[in-house]
Amino acid sequence: MKELRALEPDFWRAPSAHNTQPWTLTYTDAEAEVGWDPSRALPVSDPTGRDLRLGMGAFVECCLIVCADAGLPVAFRPDPGPLRVGFLHAGSTPYRTPFTTADVRARGANRGEYHPGHLPEEVVAGLTGMRRLACRDLADLLHAADLRQFGDREVTRELRSWLRLTRRHRRYLLDGLSDRALALDRAKALALRASLALYPALRRLGLPRVLAGASRALLDYDGDVLVLVGAQEEELEAGRLLMRHWLTLSGLGYTTHPLSQIIDCEPTRAALAERLGVADPRTLLHVARVGRPITPAPASARLRT
Ligand SMILES: Cc1cc2nc3c(=O)[nH]c(=O)nc-3n(C[C@H](O)[C@H](O)[C@H](O)COP(=O)(O)O)c2cc1C
Repeated sequence: MKELRALEPDFWRAPSAHNTQPWTLTYTDAEAEVGWDPSRALPVSDPTGRDLRLGMGAFVECCLIVCADAGLPVAFRPDPGPLRVGFLHAGSTPYRTPFTTADVRARGANRGEYHPGHLPEEVVAGLTGMRRLACRDLADLLHAADLRQFGDREVTRELRSWLRLTRRHRRYLLDGLSDRALALDRAKALALRASLALYPALRRLGLPRVLAGASRALLDYDGDVLVLVGAQEEELEAGRLLMRHWLTLSGLGYTTHPLSQIIDCEPTRAALAERLGVADPRTLLHVARVGRPITPAPASARLRT
């Protein structure tokens, strides 16, 4: 299994919340244990570990695709344990997938503006578990969720620890969310840095309202939001599915901009479930706007390059 090491930079292209890249690979001769580093989890904003498991699933899928493209017969065996989701091991044939390493490299989140327009019905129908809503129908929930998020001192503190808003940040090229990944120009990145630095003092003076207001226009266009609905107990599998869906969309020229805050916040999650006619709000696993971006986004930072 040690031959997998050379492929790590492509495995690492998997997406993760706040770009924490929580995954670890521990090699033996026969297997590679797929685990996570607890210092890269998000205990405050992801207390149930939903996004952690989705990201781990995306990583597993990414590993299997990249190994298959390299002609390596590698399979995955789920075996949840402390800080572990399972093992990559030698299979009899390469993983069967329509995706390639080039697809993995080409995918990326895009938080910039999208062209107006909707996904063709047959594309949405092919994305198992995905439900579609119009962007504008979620604008109120996004604003309410942002207000909650930025009003919460601990959530904001955790987010801030993963922001890399200046190129002088020592981890700018390694992990977290950069100004460029967040589609912020210099002035906006500076303003965000300054306001977050003053957050404790400004919180009572309405800073959360200002920060939440910044995303007000985000969903005010004719576009789509996709919501992944699935069993809460199968979040790892859902992460693998999400990765496949993102690769399908990316291959068709679409990008995604996740909006997890809507399902991180109890009241907006319940309201979204009601709008979708979903009985159990806990089965809402992921929310993202999807469309054709006006400008390409730069590749996000990684620990392995
Ligand atoms: C489970 C999950 C949840 C995410 N939630 C958000 C989110 O709420 N907001 C956001 O802007 N990006 C979100 N992202 C996107 C990540 O920040 C992004 O994947 C990461 O920064 C790496 O960038 P890339 O996808 O361009 O490679 C999420 C990604 C995953 C896998």
